[in-house]
Amino acid sequence: MIISLCDSPQDVADLAAQRVADLLLDTPRAVLGLPTGRTPIAMYDELAARASAGEIDFSQVTSFNLDEFVGIGESHPGSYRAYMKQHLFDRVGLPAGQGHVLDGLAADADAECARFEAAIEAAGGIDLMILGLGANGHIGFNEPDAALQARTHRVTLLEPSRKANADFFDGDPAKVPAEAMTMGMGTILKSRRIMLLVTGSGKAATVAAMINGPVTTQMPASFLQLHGHVELICDSEAAAQIR
Ligand code: GLP
Repeated sequence: MIISLCDSPQDVADLAAQRVADLLLDTPRAVLGLPTGRTPIAMYDELAARASAGEIDFSQVTSFNLDEFVGIGESHPGSYRAYMKQHLFDRVGLPAGQGHVLDGLAADADAECARFEAAIEAAGGIDLMILGLGANGHIGFNEPDAALQARTHRVTLLEPSRKANADFFDGDPAKVPAEAMTMGMGTILKSRRIMLLVTGSGKAATVAAMINGPVTTQMPASFLQLHGHVELICDSEAAAQIR
């Protein structure tokens, strides 16, 4: 794993946006895997600024989001589809139909997961998968567990994850949907390149466990140790406990 150590969260965002810009200049039809959460917002801001300035072009890009809640759709501000429209899709002019997010309102969530997995394959796989890190070590919504599912699947969320996502649900973890759909670690590890963004002291212990600890389903992010082309872009606070 390559570790790119930055002085500040803004530097993390700038470097991450630079990586995306470099990819799009080289490969205009790139397929991106995209995360939600607080961490990538500054990167999305930077990408929007560069797109407005005409420095990068999303017209031929295809993207697949990591995860989505079950039971809510685009009209709910807590949905990841709403998040992506607000922070990226509408700002960079990503053509409709090229920004794929799992449909939280699908009548059959299992079928929706299978459809999504097939759509990634049909697009030729993911060139650059951008990830955030859950404080409990989750990636997407692959929660710590005795076993993990490899492909896109339905999950029951753990309490820390519902708490971490409460902001858009009146600050009330109980209002956060109990279930979600997420790419599996196998889906993620099939990506040609992976870029993990982490900031802040609150994730320092998790970062250290992910890098220095064993590969274990109790720390889903540790599976990134098995991929040959991962770049961790983090600030000094998040990196503080790496040995
Ligand atoms: C959510 C998402 C994850 C994301 C995590 C971290 O739980 N499902 O994909 O990585 O939040 O969020 P934050 O960046 O706000 O810490």
